[in-house]
Amino acid sequence: MNLEKLDQTSFADFVAYLNDHLSDNGQGSMPYFQPLPRDASRFPPEKEEAFRNGMQIEVSKPGWRRAWVIRDDDGGIVGHVDLRGHPETFTKHRCLLGMGVERKHRGQGLGRELLAHAEQWALMAGVQWVDLQVLSMNTPAIKLYESSGYRKVGEIPNMFLIDGKHHSYTLMAKRLR
Ligand SMILES: CC(C)(COP(=O)(O)OP(=O)(O)OC[C@H]1O[C@@H](n2cnc3c(N)ncnc32)[C@H](O)[C@@H]1OP(=O)(O)O)[C@@H](O)C(=O)NCCC(=O)NCCS
Repeated sequence: MNLEKLDQTSFADFVAYLNDHLSDNGQGSMPYFQPLPRDASRFPPEKEEAFRNGMQIEVSKPGWRRAWVIRDDDGGIVGHVDLRGHPETFTKHRCLLGMGVERKHRGQGLGRELLAHAEQWALMAGVQWVDLQVLSMNTPAIKLYESSGYRKVGEIPNMFLIDGKHHSYTLMAKRLR
């Protein structure tokens, strides 16, 4: 396994990985982990563009984003973590985190490794807080975040109405040290 920074040349591979990953959203025993309906769980093209452009924006400038992936021994992407700036101004000391691990590779410590790597990078980049939003039913992710020092700072009940059911949204934050 190899953890590396995502660059522009790997972006098409990354989008293919992400769309495959998103196809698990709310399926079978998987919780909803993205606020998207099951039949539209794909990376929206406008977000793809913003993601790609953000990787070239200086950290702390509006729209910045950085991402890292883990590759297996065959070079396939099997996990990712990304950090981005908040859309609000005067929030340069904070960032937002997103992550995922490919279905066959979950439960093997990759999520924890990706999270630790992103936090270490954020600390070096001068970011003091990592924030995240997680669907409240997503127990695996919440357990990972809690055991990594994230604290629940809020919850919006019934934030989303997806596939005929309401979903609450949990907000979590960690102060980096
Ligand atoms: C959440 C996710 C990234 C965790 O990645 P992972 O590689 O499976 O996690 P790890 O193997 O590093 O496990 C770390 C901790 O997460 C928690 N965890 C992981 N899977 C779990 C599960 N199925 N049930 C409960 N807790 C779980 C545990 O606390 C675990 O620590 P432990 O092994 O000491 O018990 C992965 O389940 C995933 O990709 N889920 C779908 C996408 C997603 O939810 N992204 C986050 C959106 S906010």
